Amino acid sequence: MHSRNVSCRNGPEIIRRTAEHVRNVLAADSSGHDWFHIERVWNMAKKLAAAEGADLYVVELAALLHDIADWKFHGGDETAGPRAADAWMESLSVAPEIREHVCDIIANLSFKGAKVSGTMATLEGQVVQDADRLDAIGAIGIARAFAYGGHAGRGLYDPAIPPVLHESFAAYKKNDGPTLNHFYEKLLLLKDRLNTSSARQVAQERHDFMQAFVDRFLSEWAGDDADCSD
Ligand code: ADP
Ligand code: NI
Repeated sequence: MHSRNVSCRNGPEIIRRTAEHVRNVLAADSSGHDWFHIERVWNMAKKLAAAEGADLYVVELAALLHDIADWKFHGGDETAGPRAADAWMESLSVAPEIREHVCDIIANLSFKGAKVSGTMATLEGQVVQDADRLDAIGAIGIARAFAYGGHAGRGLYDPAIPPVLHESFAAYKKNDGPTLNHFYEKLLLLKDRLNTSSARQVAQERHDFMQAFVDRFLSEWAGDDADCSD
């Protein structure tokens, strides 16, 4: 069967067209889910895939399409992402079993709450999830958290509002606490929730940097660093 997309059925061309599409869709984002987030996750996922022996084509497609329609920006609808990714891949005549695998990864990628355990079924999914999580920690993770918080109208910090270790995805989704809480509710937990040893190696320094930032933030908040005695 010939379709009008027959010319772009080879892998590299499909990846190139997908990257171009995602770049256009996410160009104007200011919530930390912009094209450069996707590009970093894509690059990291390729490195992890090589180290772990994962199928590169599936990994690249899932990394590129993973935030194409995130539930956070689609009224909490978790099906928006996989649906948008599938429609795009179908338009490029990507094979049905690849589409299904990629959509499955996207549907299961998101963090769902501190006390919610999620398992990623395939090595390809584990690699993409790790790459996405590595971009949520470290210096870039800090910047993204406050960008997201500003975008969502959250305060920086409020000592009267304690962090919550969410028991369900529904509770996690509804959460609207200040951004510093997000470090305790998700970001500082990620290092111990990675799937691959390659990602765990990268995570350690990023985690330590983030922990030092939070410690410093709280000590400046309290004025502990001010010695004005002379
Ligand atoms: P996930 O799907 O696991 O949430 P994303 O790729 O969508 O992963 O990235 C989530 C990003 O959004 C992280 O960098 C995180 O810091 C930020 N984020 C999500 N929820 C919050 C929140 N409540 N406060 C601050 N940042 C948040
Ligand atoms: Ni992401």
